[in-house]
Amino acid sequence: MKKVKFLPENKTVSAKVGENLLDVARKSGIVIDAPCNGNLSCGKCKVKIIGGKVDIKRGRHLTDEEWNEGYVLACNSKIIEDIVVEVPHEASSFMYGMKIDSFSTERDKEIFHRARKQVIDNGMEFGSYVRKDYIEIDLPTIDDNISDWDRIKRHLRNNLGYSKVFCRLQMLRRIPQILRESDFKVTITHIPRGNGRTTIVNMEKEDTVARLFGVAIDIGTTSVSAFLVDLYKGELLAKVSSGNAQIKYGADVINRIIFSTKNDGLMKLNHAIIHETINPLLKEMYEIAKVDKDEVIAFVSAGNTTMSHLLLGVYPDYLRREPYIPTFLKAPFIKASELGIDVNPETFLYVVPSVSSYVGGDIASGVLSSGIWSSDENVLFIDLGTNGEIVFGNKDFLMTCACSAGPAFEGGEISCGMRATNGAVEKVKITKDTYEPQITIIGNDKPKGICGSGIIDLIYEMMILGIIDKKGRLNKELNSPRVRVDEYGMGEYVIAFKEDYNLKKDIIINEADIDNFIRAKGAIYSGASVLLESLGMDFSVLDRIYIAGGIGSSLNIINAIMIGMLPDIDIDKFMYIGNSSLMGCYLTLMSEDGRRKLEEIANQMTYVELSVYPNYMDEFVSACFLPHTNIEKFPSVKEKLGE
Ligand code: FES
Repeated sequence: MKKVKFLPENKTVSAKVGENLLDVARKSGIVIDAPCNGNLSCGKCKVKIIGGKVDIKRGRHLTDEEWNEGYVLACNSKIIEDIVVEVPHEASSFMYGMKIDSFSTERDKEIFHRARKQVIDNGMEFGSYVRKDYIEIDLPTIDDNISDWDRIKRHLRNNLGYSKVFCRLQMLRRIPQILRESDFKVTITHIPRGNGRTTIVNMEKEDTVARLFGVAIDIGTTSVSAFLVDLYKGELLAKVSSGNAQIKYGADVINRIIFSTKNDGLMKLNHAIIHETINPLLKEMYEIAKVDKDEVIAFVSAGNTTMSHLLLGVYPDYLRREPYIPTFLKAPFIKASELGIDVNPETFLYVVPSVSSYVGGDIASGVLSSGIWSSDENVLFIDLGTNGEIVFGNKDFLMTCACSAGPAFEGGEISCGMRATNGAVEKVKITKDTYEPQITIIGNDKPKGICGSGIIDLIYEMMILGIIDKKGRLNKELNSPRVRVDEYGMGEYVIAFKEDYNLKKDIIINEADIDNFIRAKGAIYSGASVLLESLGMDFSVLDRIYIAGGIGSSLNIINAIMIGMLPDIDIDKFMYIGNSSLMGCYLTLMSEDGRRKLEEIANQMTYVELSVYPNYMDEFVSACFLPHTNIEKFPSVKEKLGE
């Protein structure tokens, strides 16, 4: 056995000769990002060996400078002797780490009001199903000496009309002190269940009737976003987001499912989403809004089918094995606290039902908030997330498919990619003769990486100026310090030189990144095209296209059309609707009618399996060009390029 010491944790563990360094780290609870789960494609698992040696073959992901400084890919390193390993900050940094951003822009507010209006305009009732009542209970005397619990029940029966009142043991244990410390004047939080029944879930000493809160959360494969909601007023008190901590075990659902089959894999994935992602987000929101976790009494989550399984700790492996059967589409009601989620112990967790193995509750939730289900118009809804789900329909029918775009839209599997948060390059323009970029950075911070909207701009600008060709290969003959070739012959374009911003390394995009992005955009375009074709239609039937997802609110729709990601139709038909899944969770939290409608949507959507369409692969391959092998499908690009 050899000793492996991890810094900065200062943790020493034993490892066998020949053991993989990434596996050793995972076994020891050391976080090293590994989006490709060790298949050598992402290059994100870089660590620095500062004592001893490992057995490693240097790959294309390490620069000369990094190699000379002792960096290795953890997943490509075998233990041969005692070593000291430094896990750099970047390995658990801005892309996947738990840096939490709080924000609420004018555009966010606009999206929020639009979604709320969808539900109200359709006559749905808005308001929480949880109640709070301030009660003043008769004091006990020698003559009136019934038990505390019977006294509470008597009061609720005589004053509020509840004939059957329930509570759990934890609640019962708190009653004697609270009653006496408050002189029997308390506020109860309870959940009426019809027919005179109700369950008390919280009791407070003062009149706190106006304080009642809920949480809506969208669990994406790459990003997780949440709202803290005032259930009385329906207002948003805090909005936070972070990377999904599961990403260290794989960037996409397939890699996560594979990881779940390993020893303790499922438990680690479940721990990562609850204790390393959701609870830190909740803590942040509680601090922002000065809310106690016991006051949070409703919780709605939506995610793709795999994320919902992993949230509940349910083995997901059969989702990827023929005939692709999920353990559940609609989860049973469970208490969020049973999973270790930091809310009131009595709070139910409502997991938005999935549509199929590959179209989850996040899409049903997005359809609810976008309002397609009540629309007379033909709407195409595209969720630019890792799974790339698409819905087409109107108030009469809803068809859906998933096209595995990968995490590129959220910055995953891109060398310097990151989520659309502070420090992300969100817009790019390149000057024609000098090839110098002008960049806009979220938060006016110094650049840390580039997010989806920035990558779209960048690829468009590079295409239009001839920096890349239609396959995304760099023109290496260009006379510019921005365009260069690494020692393996891979071309790259420098978005930001490290000297200009005092960074550790240049921010670049290389040909492998561009290829990843072109595949992602090709998957979306071909998926949408085949979904319509399956109904004997094409893009000309569309009245509206809603774009959802965490790609960034700076998404330039025209540029997205120009690179062949979105269909070349009237620009006025497009609308960016942000995180529609999170909005749907909010509506579900606030409206019982909304929840019923959501379940109807999930039940009624028809899933189309793209892989059974013989032309899908051809369509995909044709769409993996800039903009497309058939330029006739993109007349405005043809005109712009003068072809
Ligand atoms: S290259 Fe090591 S995890 Fe991706």
